[in-house]
Amino acid sequence: MKEVVASAPCKTILFGEHAVVYGYPAIATAINLRIRTKIRKISGELIIHSRDLKVTWKRNQSVPKEFLPICKVIEEISDLIDQKPLNGMHIEIFSDVPPSCGLGTSAATAVSVITAMLEFLEINYDKNFINKLAFEAEKISHGTPSGIDNTVATFGGLIRYVKRNSGPNIERSKYTPEFTLILADSGLPRSTKHAVKNVAILREHFPRVIDDIFSIMGKISDEAWTLLSKAGENLRTIGHLMNINHGLLDAIGVNLPELETLVNIARKNGALGAKITGAGLGGFIIALAESAAVHKIHSAIKNYARLVLIAKPDNMGCIVESKVKT
Ligand code: MEV
Repeated sequence: MKEVVASAPCKTILFGEHAVVYGYPAIATAINLRIRTKIRKISGELIIHSRDLKVTWKRNQSVPKEFLPICKVIEEISDLIDQKPLNGMHIEIFSDVPPSCGLGTSAATAVSVITAMLEFLEINYDKNFINKLAFEAEKISHGTPSGIDNTVATFGGLIRYVKRNSGPNIERSKYTPEFTLILADSGLPRSTKHAVKNVAILREHFPRVIDDIFSIMGKISDEAWTLLSKAGENLRTIGHLMNINHGLLDAIGVNLPELETLVNIARKNGALGAKITGAGLGGFIIALAESAAVHKIHSAIKNYARLVLIAKPDNMGCIVESKVKT
């Protein structure tokens, strides 16, 4: 039975979310929590099933909104190989993390589906091609994405990302920093599109103020990049920079009392730094911790969070995990 399993990592933005949408540098790392896609051959049908969303779609039904980005990808690939409609596949998606939580799940989903499909259909590809297709899916999910999420999900590792009209400037660190992140989920539903729009409205009211805040966020990203992209990184200083970045995210209106509680509990229990990660207005916070403090932070924060995950930077990006050819 012909079958392919591919996966892509989730990410956390360590520095510069929101500012990155306006062309300032951001730093993100892939983490060792993945989204997987399994495709197996079936005859004359196309079925997509998400275990986590508990949604199933068959070709003859109208497309549920959760699968619009994936259907865009399928359309692009079917154009590429001139095979319409593209049938004969059962596509199943399953994840290490809850959906829509601010850890780049939509991008990691798109990247894992694309990698699995290209491999299943035996189409020649490289990671730049995967990244380009995933960006198209991200536009459907989020409207005006910076492209950082799909880039990290595709290439993995620690990335400095600057959005440019002429195409992004992407630097990938040769060094994978060694630290532990505690990820605590507020459990509040969130939408990147909604948060990005709110920030855009605030910027329309106070363009000079908000652009100055973005500019400082960019400087924080650059300070952190210098420290993070070489061995012997100074985690205490990096934690400090995370705290400053969190204050600025609060200033642009993407904090909530529930997120602030999680950040404070992490800091009180020994985190070197803690902040919102991703779009904010719900979803996760991240806390940076030395190994000795992880257990204490985890025990304290779990009483206030829907879910607490421990993660480390991941260097692999998207991969084919298994393939049966017949
Ligand atoms: C998304 O993970 C983070 C934002 O900066 C939006 C984007 O970069 O597209 C809020």
